[in-house]
Amino acid sequence: MDFISLNLVSVQFCIIIVTLAIIVNIAYSTIQLGISPMPSTKAARTIMVQWAYKYVQDMSLSTPSTKPVAIAELGAGWGGLARQLARQLNQFDSKSTPQSKSIQVIAYEQALCPWLYCCMLQTIAPIKNLEFRKQNFLAQDLTAFSLYLTYLYPQGMQAIAKQRQRQQIQATPLISCAFALPNETLIKKHILQDWLNTPVYWYEGVICQPSANNGLS
Ligand SMILES: C[S@@+](CC[C@H](N)C(=O)[O-])C[C@H]1O[C@@H](n2cnc3c(N)ncnc32)[C@H](O)[C@@H]1O
Repeated sequence: MDFISLNLVSVQFCIIIVTLAIIVNIAYSTIQLGISPMPSTKAARTIMVQWAYKYVQDMSLSTPSTKPVAIAELGAGWGGLARQLARQLNQFDSKSTPQSKSIQVIAYEQALCPWLYCCMLQTIAPIKNLEFRKQNFLAQDLTAFSLYLTYLYPQGMQAIAKQRQRQQIQATPLISCAFALPNETLIKKHILQDWLNTPVYWYEGVICQPSANNGLS
């Protein structure tokens, strides 16, 4: 074997090892967190971003101040939704007056590989009002946010409901793709025209009395 073929074999070997490490890491975080970093669909993102944008617009009209508005994405996956939202809100910023709010998007992602990928995208094509945090959002103080977006799974939504109750942030709206939030008031629901007829939910404000089988005791 000459020197060049030996080098090629080493490169191929490294690629296989790195690919396997990524697959194992994603499988591990999926088991640990209860959900894979599966991205939301284009249609789901469009409606979520539209609702968020409209909310920020209405908010800045009703309570004009210089206080920054921050939006949290709870479980960013590969960062597609967070990037689309932050880009859209950047446009809002540039249309606004210097006195109006600057809108930050903080995207929480605990799984290593998706988070590294999000950081890599931020390095290659940075979006100034976007930050990815490698943190378990369930262990964070979320009280400073004005809006939450999420795409999780039923147990994840129950955990968020408990957190909202604990931190008394049920009055702050939450947009959820696909899964409902127990014991909170549904303000609106949009059914996507996809093969699963995926619902997108908007929760806010009035708190329902917990029922016996709510899983929040
Ligand atoms: C279905 S993906 C969301 C994808 C993304 N929001 C989108 O719309 O494209 C759910 C993500 O939430 C992350 N996740 C689940 N529980 C979490 C937690 N407690 N803290 C941080 N991230 C979490 C998972 O690692 C996964 O990447």
